[in-house]
Amino acid sequence: MFAMASLPARLIILPLLLLFGTCNANLIRGGDTPQKPFDFFVLALSWSGTSCSSVKDCCPTNACCSSEVATGFTINGFWPDYNNGSWPSCCDGPKYDQNSISIISGFLNTYWPSYDCISAPACGRFIESDLAFEWDTHGKCASPVLSNQYEYFSTALMLYFKYNITEILLKAGYVPSNTVKYPLKDITSAIKNALGVTPIVKCNGHSPIREIQICFDKTLQIEECPTYAPSKCPSRVKLPIKNVTQVPETTNYLSFRGSLNW
Ligand SMILES: *[C@@H]1O[C@H](CO)[C@@H](O)[C@H](O)[C@H]1NC(C)=O
Ligand SMILES: *[C@@H]1O[C@H](CO)[C@@H](O)[C@H](O)[C@H]1NC(C)=O
Ligand SMILES: *[C@@H]1O[C@H](CO)[C@@H](O)[C@H](O)[C@H]1NC(C)=O
Repeated sequence: MFAMASLPARLIILPLLLLFGTCNANLIRGGDTPQKPFDFFVLALSWSGTSCSSVKDCCPTNACCSSEVATGFTINGFWPDYNNGSWPSCCDGPKYDQNSISIISGFLNTYWPSYDCISAPACGRFIESDLAFEWDTHGKCASPVLSNQYEYFSTALMLYFKYNITEILLKAGYVPSNTVKYPLKDITSAIKNALGVTPIVKCNGHSPIREIQICFDKTLQIEECPTYAPSKCPSRVKLPIKNVTQVPETTNYLSFRGSLNW
């Protein structure tokens, strides 16, 4: 699936690059609570081996239970942020519409998967999927740089393809393993050498890397992240292997989701 999938994805999303030069990033959003324009984007990537280290439920949307979903890093989020460490959320904008991204839904399922069976509510209401959560919570705030759902999701995919951190680490010799620990500073340097910027690495205080973040300015050029959240990683970190989980499917998740009215 991967080999077949990569090429068309690039063909579909690369032309988008041409659009960005002309975007006006200075508009201020209207509505009851106007949002100040954001300052930069964060691309947050989850290490699937860590995301899947404790799986409780399997269901068709849980990537931990599917070998078709990418191992290595997958997209956790693509977030407009402020330089002062906070971020806009729940901005005005069009309602989530699965049809508007149907052409890239295969890539989103593979590279921006959910590691859960139940999606959290977003902006005070129940939503139908993790992607709907991302759109409602963050995606709408990317306007006017990325002004619709297709631009938002395809841009995140395009940057994820362009800056393949899984590949950078593999090429530098950091092979996923459940036992080997690598010096955090060496992993950070390998990425810095490849990209020219220092990534933010997050671990939740334990050795498995949970997330890596890189930042982009509003013209989508990679840049140093303006704000540094503490990484909370030990000095030696792991990149655990993603083990496809085989716990029984939950029997009631469908009816639960059905009750969310989607
Ligand atoms: C950060 O900056 C934004 C945009 O200027 C502002 O709306 C927000 O209140 C600021 N937050 C903090 C914690 O200073
Ligand atoms: C990133 O690189 C890895 C390792 O070379 C590869 O398996 C994977 O398909 C690449 N991901 C994308 C999105 O191109
Ligand atoms: C993966 O999971 C299976 C069954 O859940 C288990 O038997 C196997 O030891 C696991 N492999 C690793 C590398 O953790």
